[in-house]
Amino acid sequence: MVKLLIKNGRVIDPASRLDGMRDVLIENGKIKKIGARVRGSGAKVIDAKGLLVLPGLIDMHAHFRDPGRPDKETIASGSRAAALGGFTTVCCMANTEPPIDNPAVVKYIMDKARTEAVINVLPIAAVTKGLAGEQLTEMGLILKEGAVAFSDDGQALMRADVMRRALEYASQFNVPLISHTEDKTLSHGGSMNESALSTAIGLPGIPALAEEIMVARDTMLAKEYGRVHIAHVSSAGSVDLVRRAKRLGAPLTCETCPHYFSLTEEAVREYDTNAKVNPPLKGKRDLQAVIRGLKDGTIDAIATDHAPHNIEAKEVEFNQAAFGLVGLETALSLVLTKLVGPKALTLRQAVEKMTVNPAGILGLNKGSLKPGADADIILVDPKSEWTVEPKAFASKSRNTPFTGWRLKGRVLYTIVGGRIVVRDGKLIV
Ligand code: DOR
Repeated sequence: MVKLLIKNGRVIDPASRLDGMRDVLIENGKIKKIGARVRGSGAKVIDAKGLLVLPGLIDMHAHFRDPGRPDKETIASGSRAAALGGFTTVCCMANTEPPIDNPAVVKYIMDKARTEAVINVLPIAAVTKGLAGEQLTEMGLILKEGAVAFSDDGQALMRADVMRRALEYASQFNVPLISHTEDKTLSHGGSMNESALSTAIGLPGIPALAEEIMVARDTMLAKEYGRVHIAHVSSAGSVDLVRRAKRLGAPLTCETCPHYFSLTEEAVREYDTNAKVNPPLKGKRDLQAVIRGLKDGTIDAIATDHAPHNIEAKEVEFNQAAFGLVGLETALSLVLTKLVGPKALTLRQAVEKMTVNPAGILGLNKGSLKPGADADIILVDPKSEWTVEPKAFASKSRNTPFTGWRLKGRVLYTIVGGRIVVRDGKLIV
């Protein structure tokens, strides 16, 4: 494998408290050396002057629709979208068709990831068979095949007793249970946030409490039975509940997604189905609370919840449309534009929430540039601006509410295990 030397870049590696001008030498797919002036005879040199050199991003929450819906996304297309967005590791959720609820499907994903993916793809398996919320999956066998966590994401796990047993099992293996917090009895039939706006535009609402009641339940269960990671936190009440439960010592982490700090429910005023997500976009107060939660460390990670859907699922009446938006190719630029630009987060905090923090939650030996680590690295031009054009996405789906947005920050290089996958902002594999 080629030797690479990345020179003159600003290297930010929160895991080793590094932020400075350094050279990075890559050999045999690993980080060999980082220093002020590194020599690498025979190495191919990449000049990173004016660029950020970061650990490859880790997305702990994406939907790749494989098996089952290759028209929406595949591991091949999803992993390419990820690479363009600066992600070198993506965890894919279990709500495929069939779901990832047994060892054979985990093996299928691991095999496909090896042959088709251009980044690292790691499966998250279902908590319950068929995501039906009743019978637990064979967690031990599933983990042996390579799953990294359990989640029924996309479906609410309504029974507290099942959640309790799942936590007891998962904690024996020290893997997190990722909770899609939604009380279906409250959300049922709704398609946007319940508010003055939902009344004004005549759409059935989902109260924020549908999320918050389950956050409350799961933080309480975590305290008694084992580690919980709360997915896609979207409301002020949820941020507050997590903050309080953490103070009480519950083994708890959580994530939010770029759409919850970039958009409010106003995005659906004109019935844009691309802004229809679950949990639904909320009000300004919620958006500000999410940003505060990111800032004070209540929210540990930023994940995409990349949820590709085709035109048939989206170009329909709002109430009929599928929930979800594609996020892999816009996430980092939204973080830079909406959080780092206005100084809500420092660059280091932002990088932390997209690299070492998700790695820590999942127990992955990734997300850092320490010598000896896998050479998963991205080079980002923080100054360059671009316009979101879904036509240019590598994803098979186009369901973004950010079309036409001017965003800051372009991923110029994505290097996965020492292999260049994106060069000058373009896929080369
Ligand atoms: O908006 C969403 N879409 N939220 C989820 O939890 C599931 C996802 C999907 O699979 O489409």
